[in-house]
Amino acid sequence: MPRLVSHPDEVKIVTSRFGLGAAQIDRYLELGGYTSARKALANGPEYIINEMKVSGLRGRGGAGFPTGLKWSFVPKVSAKPKYVLVNGDESEPGTCKDHLIFLHDPHAVIEGTIIAGLAIGAKTGFIYLRGEYRYLITIVEKAVADAYARGFLGKNIFGSETEFQVIVQTGAGAYEVGEESALMESLEGKRGIPRIKPPFPAVVGLYGGPTVINNAETIATVPHIFSMGGAAYAGVGSERNGGTRLFGLSGHIERPGVYELPMGYNLRKMIYEVGGGIRGGRELKAVVPGGSSTPVLLPNEINIGMDFDQVGKAGSMLGSGGVVVIDDQTCIVEFALRTISFYAHESCGWCIPCREGTDWLKKSLTRFHAGFGTMKDIDNIQYLAENMMGRTFCPLGDAAAMPTIGFVKKFRKEFEEHLGGKPCPFAKHVELAVV
Ligand SMILES: Cc1cc2nc3c(=O)[nH]c(=O)nc-3n(C[C@H](O)[C@H](O)[C@H](O)COP(=O)(O)O)c2cc1C
Ligand code: SF4
Repeated sequence: MPRLVSHPDEVKIVTSRFGLGAAQIDRYLELGGYTSARKALANGPEYIINEMKVSGLRGRGGAGFPTGLKWSFVPKVSAKPKYVLVNGDESEPGTCKDHLIFLHDPHAVIEGTIIAGLAIGAKTGFIYLRGEYRYLITIVEKAVADAYARGFLGKNIFGSETEFQVIVQTGAGAYEVGEESALMESLEGKRGIPRIKPPFPAVVGLYGGPTVINNAETIATVPHIFSMGGAAYAGVGSERNGGTRLFGLSGHIERPGVYELPMGYNLRKMIYEVGGGIRGGRELKAVVPGGSSTPVLLPNEINIGMDFDQVGKAGSMLGSGGVVVIDDQTCIVEFALRTISFYAHESCGWCIPCREGTDWLKKSLTRFHAGFGTMKDIDNIQYLAENMMGRTFCPLGDAAAMPTIGFVKKFRKEFEEHLGGKPCPFAKHVELAVV
């Protein structure tokens, strides 16, 4: 059972029911559950989408696309059935929040899925769980069965004429199927490779029907928006970034864990106050602010608000909210190697710049870390990664290239220290930097 953490600066909205037994439907109802879905049902699609737009909620899966706007793109009339798809694939290294939601508050995901379905006129929602999260299936499936038994799901939800069904599905364990179009392929029983866009899922998605696909945290936030009101939710966050976010603090930090903080919360404060500072009183060397695909930040770059716009301005991305803290005894070349090894392993192999590029980078960095690199290799690693950018079929290629470019640009001196057959200067401190 993952440890629950807490800090006075937290604003507990999505996590408000964590640790309170809300996976049991009676407890969820006692805590105000399913009132938001009833409210949404009574008020209709226009009200739902408007409230979502007012809330300023931006997708928590990585790209930060405004959720209300995404829902409004779905055509009102469609010859094919429409679908809601909950992305619970959560595979980006450093990201560890969605599984807590499924564990502690699965009904929030179900309720959010119902509201999304009402907004776009879908009769079916799928909850897609990461393959490695098999231990969560029983919890989520029980929650779905309980919601059916109470009449909250099925042909006549909450005694109305409206139908909404929910189906739980798992992947087989592949990072790439977190990408929305690969996820749809996987759900349809095919190999998990992405589709060409456009058309976008809102128009042509699952089984060719209009589909809204959202991250599990995004969906679990929805019922709270309807209970507290879109404007109140927006007011918690920063400009153009409504509400809170579940930040996963990991790496060389005193108090790792998932903390729910307002959007725009200062990154330095998050590390030194919420997370208790660098483990063992060491010095901070770098921070990966939003999951392994986001470019690294230096200690003098972390006095920023953690929202999509401010982190973007600082040259990185808020991504999936996985903050990985790196101390001064970590070898950045090894960190870069571990990162690219993940992407090389997870590349689906569909397009050449990603399939070959990640493998070349892994080989170059392996050689480099072992002390057999040359000065020219440093430029080659950067050149190779830069040439992958924007030239791949899906953003996994960029996700692999971006952090590599950042490591080389910001830590060139450390790369140079590995030259000339010398042993890695950090060899005696080798340990996992990513927890
Ligand atoms: C390689 C790759 C992996 C992804 N993995 C995930 C994931 O595990 N979970 C997720 O919600 N989004 C993931 N995404 C983003 C999704 O494609 C999509 O943007 C997201 O589910 C939309 O939901 P949101 O608008 O609520 O953020 C991934 C994207 C890429 C390119
Ligand atoms: S970028 Fe990588 S993961 Fe995406 S389609 Fe190409 S090979 Fe597959």
